[in-house]
Parts: sequence; C-alpha cells; structure tokens
Amino acid sequence: MLRTHTCGALRKSDVGSPVTLCGWVDSKRDHGGAVFIDLRDRYGLTQVVIGPPEAGESLIKQAGHVPNESVILIRGVVADRLEGKTNAKLETGEIEVRSEHFEILSASETPPFTPGQSDLPGEDLRLKYRFLDLRRKEMQQALIRRSEIIKCMRDYFAEHDFIDVETPILGRSTPEGARDYLVPSRVHPSNFYALPQSPQLYKQILMVAGFDRYIQVAKCFRDEDLRADRQPEFTQLDLEMSFVDSEDIIGLIDGLVAKTAKQVLGKDISLPLPRMTYADAMRRFGSDAPDLRFGLEIVDVTSVAAKTDFRVFRGTADAGNFVRGINVKDSALKFSRRQIDELTAFVQQDFGAKGLAWFRVEDDGTLWSPIAKNFDPEHLAEIKELMGGEPGDLLMFLADTWEVTCKGLSGLRKRLAVELKLYEDGELNCSWVTEFPMFEKDEEAGRYVAMHHPFTAPLEEDLPLLTESPEKCRAQAYDLVINGSEAGGGTIRIHDSKVQSQVFELLGMDEETARDRFGFLLDALRFGAPPHGGIALGVDRWVMLFAGLENIREVIAFPKTQKAADMMTGAPGEVDSDQLNELHLRTVSAKT
Ligand code: AMO
Ligand code: AMP
Repeated sequence: MLRTHTCGALRKSDVGSPVTLCGWVDSKRDHGGAVFIDLRDRYGLTQVVIGPPEAGESLIKQAGHVPNESVILIRGVVADRLEGKTNAKLETGEIEVRSEHFEILSASETPPFTPGQSDLPGEDLRLKYRFLDLRRKEMQQALIRRSEIIKCMRDYFAEHDFIDVETPILGRSTPEGARDYLVPSRVHPSNFYALPQSPQLYKQILMVAGFDRYIQVAKCFRDEDLRADRQPEFTQLDLEMSFVDSEDIIGLIDGLVAKTAKQVLGKDISLPLPRMTYADAMRRFGSDAPDLRFGLEIVDVTSVAAKTDFRVFRGTADAGNFVRGINVKDSALKFSRRQIDELTAFVQQDFGAKGLAWFRVEDDGTLWSPIAKNFDPEHLAEIKELMGGEPGDLLMFLADTWEVTCKGLSGLRKRLAVELKLYEDGELNCSWVTEFPMFEKDEEAGRYVAMHHPFTAPLEEDLPLLTESPEKCRAQAYDLVINGSEAGGGTIRIHDSKVQSQVFELLGMDEETARDRFGFLLDALRFGAPPHGGIALGVDRWVMLFAGLENIREVIAFPKTQKAADMMTGAPGEVDSDQLNELHLRTVSAKT
C-alpha cells in the first residue's frame, strides 16, 4: 500500500510514529506560514500540518495552492495537538500529522460541490456527479450499511444450509405485474428476451430439480411508475424452500429480522413478529402494509350513519358503502379550520374522497362540528362511543366506497402521524400480513388478475372457492411490513399442474397461451414437483428502513431518476443505426 494508515486510524498512542497517509483534501487553512489540511478518506479525517520546522518553504507554498478534493500523499510524524486545539468530535481529534513530505497524486478541478458542504446541492447535480456525492459521509455510511445487511443475510442463510444459485438475466417474461424491459435478439430476428421482474420461475424449477434451499441476491427489473421506494432496477434477497408451509418461511424470516436488527442496529426485536390477516389490515388500517408504529385505527360507524339525517352519511350507508373514521387523540385544538380544509383537499385530490367530515369532542363530552346540526344528539353520542371519543379528541370521517375509505384514511393516518410526530425516529416496527386474496378484479379488463403472481397456492380450506367464487379465495401469501412499507413478499406455490392450469384459466389465459408462456413450468410440475414456497425481500427497502431514510436512491450507489434515467452515464441513450440494423430494429420517432 502507498499508505501506512487510513485517515481514521491514528490516536494519541501513535504519537511519535512516522506515517504515510493518502486521501482527499477536504479543506485547508493557511495560518501564516503553516498550512493545515483536513485529509479525508472513507475511514475519517486527519489533520495534517505542513509547516516549519518539518516542511520547507516550497513545500508549504505548494500545499497552500493544492485545490480541495485533490488526492495527495503525505509523510510525516504523528504529534499531539496543541493545548485547546483538540477536537472531541473527531476520532483522530487529539493528534495531527506534522508533514515533511507532500505529493499531489491527482489534482482536482474546482468541483461543482464538495462532500463537506453543509447545504446539499439539488439531486440532479448529485446524481450527475455521483462520484463526488458518494464521497459524502452519509452516502458512504449508507453503502457500508447496505453491505453489512447483505452480508448478514448471506451468513444467516449459509448457516441454514441455503445454496446460492445464479439465474439468468436474459430470459422469458416473469409476470410480477409490471411492464417488462425487453432486449432484442440479434440471432433471432423479431424475438426478444425479457429482463427478469424476479427470478420466480427459475427458483421454482430449482425446487423441482431438488435444490430444496435456494437463495440469491438478485437484480430485478420492472418498468413501472417510480416512487420514493421504487426503482426500475432493484435488488431482492430471493429465497425458495421445498417441503415447507407458510409457518416455516415466516419463522425463518423472523429469525433474519431479529438477527439483522441486532447485528446492524444493536436492537432487540421480540419474536414471533406480530401477524394480521389482509382482511384485518384493510379493516383496521386501510392498507395491506399498515404502519403499526402508531394507533389511529379505523373505526366503522356505518351502522349509526344509516340512522342519521346527514345526507352524506345516510346516502352512503343506503348505497351499501361505508362511513369510517379515525380518532385523532387530543388534537381538537391542534388543527385550525384552515388546516382541516387542507386535509380535506388532500383526501380529495390524492384519494378521490368527496369530503372530510369531522367533529371535536367538547369538554362536556358533546360533539361539535359545522355539520353537527344534521344529527340527533343520541346518534352523535353513539358515534362518540364507537370512536372511543374523549374531550379534546378530533374525529374524522370519510363516507365512500370501501376502497376510497381505505386509501383515504390510510393516507390520512400516515400524514397525521408525521405532522403529530406519533413515532420516534429510529423505531423499527416489523410485522406480517397474511391471507391475501388470490385475485383482484381488473375492472377495465373485466377479468381477474393475480394479487401476488399466478403461481401462488390457495389456502387449502379455500380450494373449493377457486371454482365457486374466486374473488373470495385466499392465498397462502405473506408480506413482511416494516414501518408501513412492504419489505418482502412471498407465497407457497402451486405444485400441481392441474391447479396451475386452473389458475391460468381463471386469469383469462387459454391453454395455448399458458403452454406457450409457461409450458416449461407446467412440464416441470408433471415430473415430480415437491411442495415448495418462498419469499423475496426488498434489499434496497430494508437498507432504507434500517437506516431510517425515506428514499431508496439514498442507499443505491448508482440509482435512476424518477424518469428512469442515469444522470451520470446518460442512459438510456441513442444507438448507432448499424447496431439497430443488426438487431433488425427500426425506431419510430415519437412525433410521427
Ligand atoms: P414482490 O413483487 O412482492 O415479490 O417483490 C418482493 C419485494 O421486492 C421489493 N420491490 C421493490 N423494491 C424496489 N423497487 C421496486 N420497483 C420494487 N418492487 C418490489 C419489495 C417487495 O416486497 N417473486 C416474488 C417473490 C416470491 O413470491 O417469492 C416477488 O418478486 O420490498
Ligand atoms: P357538503 O354538504 O357537501 O357541503 O358537505 C358538508 C361537510 O361534509 C363538508 O365538511 C364536507 O367536507 C363533508 N363531506 C362531504 N362529502 C363527504 C363524504 N363523502 N365523506 C365525508 N365527508 C364528506
């Protein structure tokens, strides 16, 4: 190595030792005759002094001109800092290196921003100059944490006899509900590979092949609308096991959650993690990934609403829809009329709600609201009772379809929890949601779509519902939820080719299409397929949640923008016409 130590290594016990350090010039101060440089690498900062008597005049002059962010090498001796000049915030804060040799390994031009600057530049600039952005301490910590978490996962599964198998990137489409990224074949004109949305089918085939415990840190590609917790290219810890039921998978991942939390954050998580069915999650929290760090549980008051004279409530109940609300404890005086108007606009614009009805619980226990005059006092008392209302509480209601009340109230819960600071920073709340429905109705297409994916097995006791009423049929499916975010999802799979064909048919896939797309799976299921199941954990989301961050771009070295572009390399980009010709492709301009 060019260096003897890193920039985070030296302590008081090293005083007197000759050392060589390499790093980036984080900052420099010229103190009349001596230059002080904070030398940085990913391990820390060390103060270097280039001054007399160790350094001669020309060296001092050269150091004075070195641009920030240049890479330099210095040789010198570790010394105590002067009295009163120690820095308790730095691990190396008690010493400095008095340099007798100074070399510029690579001078930097003036950078568009520096890693140490307190105001973060815009994200576009950070992504364009990612090599500078990645020099920032926060980014380095995030990527180090990411590496620790993946190592922790790999170790855990190795301890449990899992085998790591790589599956292809160029393959056939695997339906996970998003659009595919396609790769044209040069050798087979007009034919395309699809990048995997997940290794789903390969891992099932590996079970049929007898590998009984498989894992992979797998790159997945989905062309879908991006959000703060979604990237077009992301990483899963993908896993599959044979001869298991849901309990086995959930129990195994429980152990992983506890181990990772302990190892990475020093946190104790008590097991088993709590579980809730999908139906309960929607009823109590309006979401299949409920944030359980705080209460604000949803309460259904449709039965009382039906008796009232308030047009909106009664009309909704009469139409077979729902009036559901949340009790925002001790908050009657925390929200002005204007703020409530803002919340009303929020549920209207973001979730299609028609309005937001609200009541304050007064000191005498009565309910006050601009709409209270439409209600009999006894009905108001019933509503208060159902909501557990106490003086000072604010009760908020949506009257709408089941879906709108779920989405709207779930959105309100999240927003209010942030505004009212209902959870601690650094909290890690992990739980399971189980028994998802097998299918959802795609209203536009007028047919069923798989809620997870088409290879998911129904609950044993719901098998008859597959023919009688598929919409009621529940799946052997489980999602891991961390702080209200879906951190993983999996299912027990169908291992009978007849049931698999039946599900394809329900999804509107005729036999020929099913054979064409998934013939290899149907074949595999006919040649001795063990019962099997698995799960995929969203690695980027785990790292984001474990690091307490809010955007997965902060835990990915080279992420894509909201528009799926790589600002640094300029991908996606145009290609030569020769390349297109070779691939038998012609592009059509968006304008024509
Ligand atoms: P699923 O589609 O639920 O399951 O994906 C598993 C987990 O991957 C994460 N995830 C994402 N993370 C970042 N960006 C995205 N665009 C993105 N999409 C998904 C989530 C999610 O819980 N083959 C099945 C797994 C199985 O059945 O074994 C699958 O991929 O954290
Ligand atoms: P309106 O009679 O439309 O002026 O509504 C009276 C109050 O009821 C307003 O505060 C609205 O925001 C609220 N409101 C209207 N429609 C709904 C609804 N579907 N659910 C909840 N509150 C509503």
